[in-house]
Amino acid sequence: MKNSPIVFPFFEYDYLAAAIHTKTEYEIGKIETHEFPDKETVIRINTPVKDSQLIFISGLNNPNPKILPLILAAETARDLGATQIGLVAPYLAYMRQDTQFRAEEGISAEYFSKIISHYFDWMITIDPHLHRISSLSQIYDIPTRVLHATGPIASWIKNNVTRPILIGPDSESAQWVSEIAKIIDAPFLILQKQRLGDKSVRISIPDIDQYQDYTPVLVDDIISSAETMIAAVHHLTSLKINTPVCIGVHAIFAGDAYKHLLNSHPARVVTCNTIPHVTNDIDISPLIVQALLS
Ligand code: R5P
Repeated sequence: MKNSPIVFPFFEYDYLAAAIHTKTEYEIGKIETHEFPDKETVIRINTPVKDSQLIFISGLNNPNPKILPLILAAETARDLGATQIGLVAPYLAYMRQDTQFRAEEGISAEYFSKIISHYFDWMITIDPHLHRISSLSQIYDIPTRVLHATGPIASWIKNNVTRPILIGPDSESAQWVSEIAKIIDAPFLILQKQRLGDKSVRISIPDIDQYQDYTPVLVDDIISSAETMIAAVHHLTSLKINTPVCIGVHAIFAGDAYKHLLNSHPARVVTCNTIPHVTNDIDISPLIVQALLS
């Protein structure tokens, strides 16, 4: 068996493969996807993988068009002799469908975990949405490792924001907001959120009077429709305190969400590069390199 794993980036994740290569000297593998006229695809793995361990890198935002090529690539690699295939998924999809919300629905987080567990030998991800499912081991059958962006976010706030007060837009955000506040020794508040629909969110007005001289920093794990952030920005600006900074771990920004968020006039919108986006200013690649090497 070869010693060093081969890294295969998928879907715009070359930047992460390059960062891993720089620090580890792991080879970056060559792979191509050919699309036939009928839109079926064939994967060609141009780097020899026989007896090798592989690391696939792909965020799983917009998951449906990504999952089949990843499965085809994994199966191709095994047929070509790869001995082990791990998945680095900086954003893990379907974790918000973690319960049966309606009688006629299922629990997609569980179904998705079965697919990943079937085709991959291990997985590393960053801040998956663990809420009603408290640990990935509850639903994943393979070894999983969860990394946290709290350290890089704390460093960014420390270097870029004067007198921050951290604000979590809902109870789920308390886990990372309290951790970041602890690292940088800043106060924090958690708001009450009521979700009225896919694109409709109501947020309660916090008791923030004592923090007039602070800069509010909203921190959430996922910015998808951005309605959570927008509702929080509107409430905070109506309180006539300093304009809030918005930080998200995962920059999904579905449809026009980014434009809508900018229209609410936050001081700044910043995200981690778990999903490539123009707002990426917090680098999580050191976390992944460290996890691969430990
Ligand atoms: C939900 O519980 C999450 O922590 C986020 O607050 C939520 O996913 C954000 O979604 P959206 O941007 O669609 O409001």
